[in-house]
Amino acid sequence: MKNNKDLNYSMSFPQTRMRRNRLKSWSRKLMKENILSASDLILPIFITDSNKKTPITSMPGIARIPLEQVSDIIGHADELRIQAVALFPEISSNLKDVMGSEALNKNNLVCRTAEKIKKQVPNIGIICDVALDPYTSHGHDGLLSDNPKDPEILNDETIKVLINQSIIQAQAGADIIAPSDMMDGRIGAIRNALDQADFKNTQIMSYAAKYASAFYGPFRDAIGSNKTLMGNKKTYQMDYSNSNEALREVALDIKEGADIIMIKPGMPYLDILSRVKSTFLMPTFVYQVSGEYSMLSVAADNNFFDRNAVIMESLTCFKRAGADGILTYFALEAAQILKEG
Ligand code: PBG
Repeated sequence: MKNNKDLNYSMSFPQTRMRRNRLKSWSRKLMKENILSASDLILPIFITDSNKKTPITSMPGIARIPLEQVSDIIGHADELRIQAVALFPEISSNLKDVMGSEALNKNNLVCRTAEKIKKQVPNIGIICDVALDPYTSHGHDGLLSDNPKDPEILNDETIKVLINQSIIQAQAGADIIAPSDMMDGRIGAIRNALDQADFKNTQIMSYAAKYASAFYGPFRDAIGSNKTLMGNKKTYQMDYSNSNEALREVALDIKEGADIIMIKPGMPYLDILSRVKSTFLMPTFVYQVSGEYSMLSVAADNNFFDRNAVIMESLTCFKRAGADGILTYFALEAAQILKEG
């Protein structure tokens, strides 16, 4: 047999009937090529330094959680066998400045939360985002040049800060450092810094192909950077018109030492996920982002379609496209559906 085309496809209808395998439920189950399980899921959690749980208007069903209440959601995730959580802070505006200084406070909200989770459930993976946007008054992921007319996001200067942000997060107990900032060269720099600080087993998940996407709108609402974001992120996040460029981004991050590659957003970018997985054969994660959650959730809340069914369909499609892990705000719901069989 030279290639797939030489497979015996000479049979055709009526001998071949594709519906034969689909006829019975047990048979459909046996034919499944991809199966979602709770251990594919990563739960993003919004934490807040205010003292009460606050709903996120643009993400119905999701709230920002104060540190004191984090143990409830972690306990729930653990019970449902979710293997990892990703932390995103909403900090009060008086802690934000142009430099994003609070990112380097060893006692900041993310560090305190990571320490607390590690004590409570040592076996759950903790993923910490590396980027300055929750901490900067201008809402950008990096430092700004002081050209008032057309401020540039400074690449190399930002990396110096991200290195320190990564180290303090690793010290606080982060298992996976997840740079989401899209600066060039940051993966290699962070890997070196982690190794030198004796964190050689701390994994790096690179947001390698991260597109400048309007689907992040509700997330920015959640962390409070929507109101303050100056301009857009198009000089560092990717143009949604491009696909080859994603392969170059991923190749560079692998070379620099990324352990896991991530594609983001998810549903509109399944082609990228599929290409990246089949090209590099790396552990490849996908992020079903806030706007995707809101879209599905709002339609389901209006009974435009069945909530549980679209959750399972959208997540299984990521697996089909090649995802090894899926960050999704539906993680708890999906794990519950899976548990109930
Ligand atoms: C921060 C970051 C963003 C998301 C994850 N990390 C937003 C952005 O880049 O503006 C988006 C996640 C989501 O929309 O769910 N760099």
